[in-house]
Formats: sequence, structure tokens, C-alpha cells
Amino acid sequence: MGGQPEVGSGANAKVKLALDLGSGQTAAMATASNDDERLPLLVGFQRVSDNTRRLTRLMESGKGIYVYDTEGREYLEATASFYVASLGYQNDELIDAISAQYRDLPFFVSGMQRTGTGSVELAEKLRSLVSVPNAHMMFASSGSEANDFLIKLLRFGAVARGEPNRTGIIGRHESYHGGTIASASLTGSHQEEFGLPIEGFHHVSQPDYHGHRLPQESAAEFSARCATELEGLLDSLPDESVAAMFAEPVSFSAGLKVPPGEYFPAICSVLERYGVELVADEVITGMGRTGSMFGSETFSLSPHHVTMGKGVTSGYFPLSAIAVGEDLYMALDKGSETVGTLAHASTFAAHPVGAAAALKTLEIIERDNLVDHAAAMGKRLAEGLGAFEGHPLVGDIRSVGLASAIDFLRRDDDDVPSNDDADAVLGRVYEASLNEGLVVRPAGRSLVIAPPLIVNAGEIDEIVRRVGVALDKAEAGRDQ
Ligand SMILES: Cc1ncc(COP(=O)(O)O)c(C=O)c1O
Repeated sequence: MGGQPEVGSGANAKVKLALDLGSGQTAAMATASNDDERLPLLVGFQRVSDNTRRLTRLMESGKGIYVYDTEGREYLEATASFYVASLGYQNDELIDAISAQYRDLPFFVSGMQRTGTGSVELAEKLRSLVSVPNAHMMFASSGSEANDFLIKLLRFGAVARGEPNRTGIIGRHESYHGGTIASASLTGSHQEEFGLPIEGFHHVSQPDYHGHRLPQESAAEFSARCATELEGLLDSLPDESVAAMFAEPVSFSAGLKVPPGEYFPAICSVLERYGVELVADEVITGMGRTGSMFGSETFSLSPHHVTMGKGVTSGYFPLSAIAVGEDLYMALDKGSETVGTLAHASTFAAHPVGAAAALKTLEIIERDNLVDHAAAMGKRLAEGLGAFEGHPLVGDIRSVGLASAIDFLRRDDDDVPSNDDADAVLGRVYEASLNEGLVVRPAGRSLVIAPPLIVNAGEIDEIVRRVGVALDKAEAGRDQ
């Protein structure tokens, strides 16, 4: 395919990159020419006018933590391709397990008293790992679907319990929960242009302590303010009209806004008082990313339900899952007795090949101690990035597990935000990173780095080195 992208090549920065997935920011570098050839597909999270061959990198292969484009250029995938490819590329064991499943039973539907053996085995495995006691697993094909299906189950449960008005759902600004109508309504950005949210979806602030704290406000005071905001929202709504609040243990789409230790206890105590359930969206934070198997463990959460996706199969097959808490399960049981069925299914949910991919992924993660390994590599990454704390562009560096973010909002000696160009700086650093062959994720004023769990110490050091080069080049304005 000709006309390969000049995106990010230092010699030709006349490109425009939409950097956003849920956080509401873009970094415009330049504009695509009108005569540029349009792609036959519509690529998301970029301007439609950039949907051209010239501005699109076409990836052809991957190996370990590297991917290669059609020009033979190598990129170090320091986000595991949107936090998915946790075992990296060309994992032969995983490919063999998937191939074997394709030979044995390539497809079988799950519903009406039949399902594949792998889906039961996977459900057993996941319920033994997730922080929801006696969970029952429901499968889906994407994180969006997992959140959407859970919202539907919550409504079915509310009707069954005789509380049909308990349909409200709370999300947080800047959080991302998916692309379906309900999960996009839950997402805390990009709603107006789609005529969203649909009725019953409400939002509270992201625990963005670095960006939103008042000067000298302590983490405890900030967290109490977040809890008061939530309480105010619940007070403003009709009694018993809210079913659940969805929150990622730490939101990557918001720019890895690591919540202060006081945040979730304060939020959970409000939820408890109002009888509102907590759902942990672990689509990104599940499967070892935060230094525990699930982010709920890392942040000491006891969610009523958990959704997961992405790294469950390391991206080798689209599969997501919902851990349904016991109370809701009993309500579903009651409701289905009354109605005669739980009229919900999805043809490709509990796909035998997806189950095989997930089971092998989990086996490898556990056998190779990849959660501990990821935590150790994350520590090395955080320490390495610590060298940039005094860099003139850098306002804050946050890390958790195998994930770090460099935030370009700076605060002055009086603890007051002192620059309004954080998004523009982020765009420059992102562009410079790509020029260094480093794929990172711009989100919420911040550059997010979260390589595959298999990353080794030398590769972490290489990521840090390239980030340093990108910061210096962005500062010198050499890539503008
Ligand atoms: C926290 C979170 N939840 C849900 C989703 C949606 O998952 P999917 O893109 O697989 O539908 C995402 C996607 O990035 C996510 O970050």
C-alpha cells in the first residue's frame, strides 16, 4: 500500500493527530490535504478528515513488545496497544492454544441449556480471582458490552426486587466506559455531539488531585469534597432512583488520575448510605496492570460487581466478562422465575476460542508470576521517570503498578496551576515520542505509559531513555 504516513517523521510534521480516547483533547499538528486518498474504513478517535492513507500508520506485524509498520519501521508499544496486549506479540503458547481450540470446537453458542466446556472453566477461574465473593460470570465480546450488559442486568434486578425506578447510573467526568449507547452515556466526555447521555446517567468529578485541588488542599480534604459532590447529586435525585456508580479503580482515559488513598473510602461511605452499588470497571486495570490481579485489590475496594476485558485474552480474541455479585444474581434468579426467562444473550459471548485464549493467558500470567514481574518493572519505570521530575515541561508524575503518567499541568510555589498549554505540550511530546519509535498514550493532559506485562528491565530503560529524548525535543521545539 503506497503513500505511507509521514505522521511523526521528524522531516515531515505536517500532520494532524487526534489524540483522544475519552478525555476530550486533541493535538493539531497540521491538516490533511484535500486530495489525500480516503481509507475504505472509518477509523475512530480522530477527525474524519484524517481518515486517509497518508496519515494512517499501517501495522503489519509484532514481536514481543515491538510492532512493525508496512515501511518496516519499528515501534516500541509502550501502551500494550491501548492496554491490551499484555503478553506481547507472537506468543507461541497462546497461538497454539487458540489453534487447538479452532480444531476442536471453533464455535458454539452459549444459551438455552448449552454452552462450551471452556466457558465454564473460564468462569470458575475468573471467579476465583475477582474481588466479588461468589460471583457469577457473564461473558461478552468487548468492554463496552460488558458495561452495557451489566447496566441491563441491574435494571432487570431492580424490577425483580420491586424497585423499577432504580435505573439511575453514576459515572465520572473524563472516565471512559465504552462506545455503545449506554456505556457512552456512562463515559464522562464526548456526549453532546452524540446527543447523549440518555436519561438516567449522571456524572461526578474525576479524582484529579493534581489538576482540581484547591491551593494547599490536602488529599483528605479533596477526597471529602468529592464525596460531598456525590452526596449533593444523590440528594438532588428522587429517592432510591440510582442503582450503581461505575468507576475504574484508576482511570487511564482520564490520564492515570491515581485517586488519593482517602478517595474511595469517602465515596463508598456515601454510596453505602444511599444504597447505591459500586461497579469496578476493570477493563484496563484487570489482569495484573496495577500490580495485583485486579485494581480493586490494589485500591482495597470491595465492589458489588466487576467488568473486565482487554488483557483477559491479551487481545488475541475479543472477550470480556462481568462478575455479577451474589445479591444481583439472586434478584436475576427471582426475576427470571417470574418472567420465565432471562431474555439476554449475545451470539459470540462465551466463544470457545475466546475462552481458550483467556484460560491460556491466565495460566501464563500465573505460571510466570507476571503480576509480580509487572509490579517490579513498574517500580523501575517509575524510578526511571523520576529523573524527569525537574524537567521544565513536567508538572507531575504518577505511577501505579506497571503504568505511569507524565502530566504537563504545572503548579507554582503557591500550589496554583501555572500553565494553560498542558494539552499543547502533551501534543508536542507525543509527536516527539512517535518520532523516537515509542508508542505512548496521550490522555487527560498526560502521557500514559503502560507496556505489556512481559516487558523486561532493559526495555523499561529504553522506554525511559526515549521519553527523555522526547521531552527534550519537545522543549526545544525541534518537532514543531
Ligand atoms: C475503562 C474502560 N472501560 C471500558 C472500555 C471499553 O472497552 P472496549 O473498547 O473493549 O469496548 C474501555 C476502552 O478503552 C475502557 O478503558
